[in-house]
Amino acid sequence: MNTKTVAATAVSPDVAAGVAQLLTPVVRNLIALSVNAKQAHWHLRGANFVGLHEFLDTVHENAIEAYDTAAERIVALGLPVDARIATVAAESTTPSLPEGFMQYETVITEMLAQFDATIASVRTAIDQLDDIDLASQDVAIAISQQLDKDRWFLYSHLGA
Ligand SMILES: [Fe+2]
Repeated sequence: MNTKTVAATAVSPDVAAGVAQLLTPVVRNLIALSVNAKQAHWHLRGANFVGLHEFLDTVHENAIEAYDTAAERIVALGLPVDARIATVAAESTTPSLPEGFMQYETVITEMLAQFDATIASVRTAIDQLDDIDLASQDVAIAISQQLDKDRWFLYSHLGA
């Protein structure tokens, strides 16, 4: 019989806790971003409908991929993540979207606010993970790059 003690993960409990503390808000905000992108996708009205309608689906899909990656990073280090819908509703920092149909300028400004709240949480994670776990920081950096790109695509619809 093998009597060697096997650690559950390759990192210390302190590292795992720090990563969970910083990536959990990112997971929750990305879930809110993904759900609100669909809400905007359905309720968009006005100019450039098709382009923006389709792009909001891209935002939705990119956010899903990103939150799955962030959540699995936490779990890979041995801790659970609380991304239950009630917790996301209570703890995400993305603003509430208006109810019902929205003109495209409203959709863009509302969704930019969703991005800004999400990006702020990712930036905090990047800064603080520098001293905790560089592999997890790398996950946050990749998410940040995608969010910055999607925010640029959205902002460019304003034509400003
Ligand atoms: Fe659709």
